Amino acid sequence: MQQKLSAARRLRGTIQVPGDKSISHRAVLFNALAEGNAEITGFLPGADCLSSIACLRQMGVVIEQSGDAVRVYGRGLRGLREPADVLDCGNSGTTLRLLAGLLAGQPFLSVLSGDASLRSRPQRRIVGPLRALGAQIDGRSNGDLAPLVIRGATLHGGAYELPIASAQVKSALLLAGLTGDAPMRLTGKIASRDHTERMLRAFGAQVDVTDDGGQRRVSLPGGQQLRGAQVQVPGDPSSAAFPLVAALVVPGSEVTVQGMLLNPLRIGLLDTLGDMGADLSVTNVREEGGETVADVTARHSALTGVDVPPERAPSMIDEYPILAATAAFADGRTVMRGVAEMRVKESDRIRLMVDGLRACGVAVEEEPEGFVVTGGPVPGGTTVRTAHDHRIAMSHLVLGLASVAPVTVDEPDMIATSFPGFLAMMQGLGGQVG
Ligand code: S3P
Repeated sequence: MQQKLSAARRLRGTIQVPGDKSISHRAVLFNALAEGNAEITGFLPGADCLSSIACLRQMGVVIEQSGDAVRVYGRGLRGLREPADVLDCGNSGTTLRLLAGLLAGQPFLSVLSGDASLRSRPQRRIVGPLRALGAQIDGRSNGDLAPLVIRGATLHGGAYELPIASAQVKSALLLAGLTGDAPMRLTGKIASRDHTERMLRAFGAQVDVTDDGGQRRVSLPGGQQLRGAQVQVPGDPSSAAFPLVAALVVPGSEVTVQGMLLNPLRIGLLDTLGDMGADLSVTNVREEGGETVADVTARHSALTGVDVPPERAPSMIDEYPILAATAAFADGRTVMRGVAEMRVKESDRIRLMVDGLRACGVAVEEEPEGFVVTGGPVPGGTTVRTAHDHRIAMSHLVLGLASVAPVTVDEPDMIATSFPGFLAMMQGLGGQVG
């Protein structure tokens, strides 16, 4: 089934977006490993986070879930049991990588797999460092591709310098340290989203983050326990990006997203849109559950192309597809470089955006580690291939809101990976779903 979205009139409204995907995964994982029971509210009931729940249930964790309300009955760091079958992580890299870290030090065998997209994504980035800690872990292509087979082993602690700014790798190592009862010290590119560090502290663990002459370090002593913790999951800024950009590009629009997560390591897109001249306002800034949240309003704006600083990439890595769609309506060139990581997400997102934007009549130059979009009138009126990637689908649907003719995507069902209810929400704002 194909789907398109058009805007016969301006978009208006105040909305809440589903809970943050990264925090939702961690809230169930950490509560499963904790002592005691806890409630999670605002949980994202998207396919990715449901994969995390399903895998944990296979290891004996009792989890009650109804919509965005979840109750987890914690089993403690040593309470998981050997799964009777392959753990199917679906499309979710976060599920697979965090579980790999968590399972490396458990006293049983487990096999992690997923859909075709996940089975084609690189895993050496976790397998290498986990092996260095003593993990017995293997996979196809000499350990680079899932299925991954993990034979639980005794881990020894260690120091590891992260060569890529990946929160999934950082979190896998911290979980290996925690469940393997081994001290861990991480340096290098650790300024990726820090939900694991923040949340582990809220669960009673000692996690030290220090800045040593510009060198950041995260360390975790051995011998810790987690205490179950209530989590109120804030709105996902990576989902909020779509209605906010829709308001920026459709004339006369104004949309407010309430309760959006404003973690400084997640909001590079807001900075970039600000640089482009976007009319954005952030109000009602407050602290909720150890994170800053706020209401963010976007109003239709005349935008100008910018050079996005490559060092901003970790704080907006999932937002480049929607930024590329935004750039199609900006005056001049938007240069996005230093984003090779986009090629190993749910799809090769540089390639998919270049192909999709070109099919819609937008001028794009592809580079090995980035791309450049030149803005102008966007003809649209075509069907775009999304390769099962939720963010590629939503980015093109938003592009179609302001193109001459709407854009059709081939697999709208995949949107439920991270944003169930996306099309209904856009319809509520004034979009037309066809
Ligand atoms: C995530 C980290 C990021 C991001 C993904 C979620 C997380 O991946 O792209 O959607 O929850 O830790 P990387 O760690 O590969 O950068």
